This record gives sequence, structure tokens and C-alpha cells, in this order.
Amino acid sequence: MRSLDNLLRNNREWAARQKREKPDYFEKLQYQQNPEYFWIGCSDSRVPSNEIVGLQPGELFVHRNVANLVVPSDLNCVSAIHYAVSDLHVKHIIVCGHYGCGGVRAALDGLDMGLADNWLMHVRDAYEAHFEELEGITSYAEKFRRLCEVNVLEQVRHVSRLPVVEKAWKARKDLTVHGWIYSIQDGLIHDLHLKASGQSEATGIRSLNRSRFRSRRD
Ligand code: CO
Repeated sequence: MRSLDNLLRNNREWAARQKREKPDYFEKLQYQQNPEYFWIGCSDSRVPSNEIVGLQPGELFVHRNVANLVVPSDLNCVSAIHYAVSDLHVKHIIVCGHYGCGGVRAALDGLDMGLADNWLMHVRDAYEAHFEELEGITSYAEKFRRLCEVNVLEQVRHVSRLPVVEKAWKARKDLTVHGWIYSIQDGLIHDLHLKASGQSEATGIRSLNRSRFRSRRD
């Protein structure tokens, strides 16, 4: 069996470097985390959440899964959101998709992914919610890009419908849900302008149609 000595060595070097640069670094972190942001992103190894937004350990609470989906019956994701909102009191929930997402592509192409098809069914739901628009796009590359975007919109909708989020808004808590998309090609994040800081904005996002939710390239 091959060992992972290289990773363990990297870790020791990293810990030593942190300690050298900030002597109280680990001491401060061990008592509590106090992140302002909660990131819901794709598991894709090319989208390292903390790194692309320049945040340090302790500053970003993270949940990642294939195709950055927020499925209300997924206890894992919903528990993470619940904890982030109720206990960590994060101020921002960021749903960040990415162009070139393998999960989105598998759903678009109808590939046989075995068990994962059950998960990717939720991307197909996003497709169906935007069926007319997507069917009208003739270029495969454009359709793929657009499905990555509308998938973010659908997940923002799901977040904004969760009872814990609605309850926070009712209590006038400072909490904003954002929809972003990351481009692996150039490392840039694009704001899809899907922002809800309360119930009325969330309702606005839920009722968005093509004329109002424009692709960033439109
Ligand atoms: Co992905």
C-alpha cells in the first residue's frame, strides 16, 4: 500500500509555518470558530472555497457536495445550514456553482452514473424548471453554461425556503443569501445577482423568469 507521507509532511510544514508567522494562531482557533460566511459549493477539486475568496481557517464555514445542491431532504446539507444560521450566526450564505461542472454535465447528457443519478436528478429538476429557455439554446457549450447558472438559481431558491432561514428573517436577523458562479478558466467568481436579505427579496428570486435572470453574458 502506498503511503501518504507526502501529505503528512506537507501538513507538518504548514503547521510550522503558521506558528512561525502567527505564534497564537492555533491557540486562538481552538476555542471557537466565528465565521461570517457559509459557503455551499461543489466538491470539485478545482474549486477550493477558502482559497478563491482569500479567507483563512475560521473565517468560512463550508459545505460541499457534487453539483452544489441544496436538497431539503438532505439532512447533511440542511443540518449544516441550520447550524450555520442558528449557532454560528453567519451573515451570508453563498451558493457558488461553477462552469464546467461534471455533475451538471452528467445530468445534461443523461449519462449513466449509477447511484449518483439519484442525486443528479435534482440538477434535472433545475433543467425542467428552465426547460423552455434551455431547449431554445442550440449551442451545447452555451446550454451547459446556462444550466450551471440556473442550477445556482434553483439552489438559492431552496435555501431561501428553508424554515431556519425564513425564521431568521422573521426575527430580523442579518442574513443574506447569494448566488455566485466560478469560472475555472480564469479563476474569477461572477455574481449572478441573486441576493436575498429577507422574505420579499426571496419571493422576488423565486418568481424570477428568463427576462429578469439574465446570463452574465447576455
Ligand atoms: Co462541479
